Amino acid sequence: MQTIDITLTINEQTHTLAVKPNDTLLEVVRDYLDLTGSKEGCGQGVCGSCTVLLDGHPVRACLTLALEADGSAVTTVEGLADGDILSPLQQSFIDHGAVQCGFCTPGMLISATALLKEQPHPDRKAVRKALSGNICRCTGYAKIVDAVEHAARPASGCPDCHTKDTGEDHD
Ligand code: FES
Ligand code: FES
Repeated sequence: MQTIDITLTINEQTHTLAVKPNDTLLEVVRDYLDLTGSKEGCGQGVCGSCTVLLDGHPVRACLTLALEADGSAVTTVEGLADGDILSPLQQSFIDHGAVQCGFCTPGMLISATALLKEQPHPDRKAVRKALSGNICRCTGYAKIVDAVEHAARPASGCPDCHTKDTGEDHD
């Protein structure tokens, strides 16, 4: 199939890539660049596991054509840490026990990163809204919401953390 050259800045590194017209952004980051943190769950825009930032906004990489992203800046989960130093949000997920199998975690982190950029101290309602497109089959969501809500504070400053783990926190 014919290929077309595009330029993407991914995690602050610029790449020129020859892509097929029907390649998705998810295929490009996973298969062309071996950035396999972004997950393919449904491949249909439902689960949110493929979420990346496109020019700062969370998008479903499985539904975004690589051609549409030409010239854009993309952040994947691999771009959140500073070398070996996790972002405060990533550390908060660990501190709050918000990761079980981890399959949803990259998409959750990306959606939450976009929220925290706009709202550094979100309330639970704002967190639930920002994560409403990210499905988790393991955690019951409460610890994930704790982690995002308290990402700017250490776990010791979070008296409500590690409480009941039910699904009631996810709209
Ligand atoms: S893999 Fe993209 S939304 Fe599920
Ligand atoms: S931790 Fe397993 S899907 Fe969320």
